[in-house]
Amino acid sequence: MRVVLGIESSCDETAAALVTDGRAILAQRIASQDEAHRPYGGVVPEIAARAHVERLTPLIAATLADAGMALADIDAIAATAGPGLIGGVMVGLVTAKALAMAGDKPLIAINHLEGHALSPRLADATLAFPYLLLLVSGGHCQLLAVEGVGRYRRLATTIDDALGEAFDKTAKILGLGYPGGPAVERLAGQGNAGAVPLPRPLLGSAEPHFSFAGLKSAVLRARQAGSHADADIAAAFQQAAIDCIIDRTRRAIAAAGPVSALVVAGGVAANKAVRAALEVLAAGHGLRFAAPPPELCTDNAAMIAWAGVERLGRSDPLDFAARPRWPLDAAAEPVRGAGVKA
Ligand code: KG4
Ligand code: ZN
Repeated sequence: MRVVLGIESSCDETAAALVTDGRAILAQRIASQDEAHRPYGGVVPEIAARAHVERLTPLIAATLADAGMALADIDAIAATAGPGLIGGVMVGLVTAKALAMAGDKPLIAINHLEGHALSPRLADATLAFPYLLLLVSGGHCQLLAVEGVGRYRRLATTIDDALGEAFDKTAKILGLGYPGGPAVERLAGQGNAGAVPLPRPLLGSAEPHFSFAGLKSAVLRARQAGSHADADIAAAFQQAAIDCIIDRTRRAIAAAGPVSALVVAGGVAANKAVRAALEVLAAGHGLRFAAPPPELCTDNAAMIAWAGVERLGRSDPLDFAARPRWPLDAAAEPVRGAGVKA
């Protein structure tokens, strides 16, 4: 059995985990910074970086203690090296480098998006490459053909907001606070999606991409009109967003070539209505559907440790630099307005 220590610090979660090559999560801890950022309605990079500095080292020690292990028992150290808020990424990466040096262990620099992209394989040993992945997080909304470890072909991305960002902005408009996705999902469950007409940007478009900025503006106008219940607005927003992702994903299924499954990952994949709609789409195309358990959808270190397991045998130099931007498919054309959050 080989064990990888994973470290995640690219946004507002400080996290460490120990994962084996047999897919066992031996221990994992996540320190959320929600309280620190709530007064600002979003993540403040400087506050996040400082909180990572304070929390990460004791968190790693506690994670090792949970598993009854010491640094000497670990086979490699995997840390998010980007993309994300650069101050936080540097805290995690520099900590990983120090541990790698002190323990004479290989360092594996992980792309945070690869952590999300491979996370379904941590939960499901039978999920084989290639698969079609819908990656929906706070900073990204992409469709990718996942052909192997390190082999990603981007089929679509957002030309403006990420899907998680649209959920967060809707939450802000409805006064639901931060973080917004789970709150919008809860409120949507009590509303009538048909009660508020909202646009579905790019629905049916011949181009492959996503767009959510117009939907967000329509949510703002609907709220300002003052004639709709908040629950109805939340339900209508969630349904419009789902209609968009189903339409775009249907198009990508046709464009992707043969795949073993339709997979969803990233924070928004925790949303039950999103998962259910994708499951129906997959079934309609005779495709298997896979999604990590909700706690592995939002940012965590188990997915980073798992990406490290998938990369065992390769290692990165101790001068590997943190990357604020790091696309999974370096050959893909940049599109207007792609987000920086991972
Ligand atoms: O993957 P993640 O934890 O962090 C990033 O890498 O961005 O994704 C966070 C995003 C946030 O925008 C959050 O509002 C959204 O995922 N999210 C949800 C749900 N849970 C988290 N969106 C909709 N429904 C949810 N249940
Ligand atoms: Zn993420």
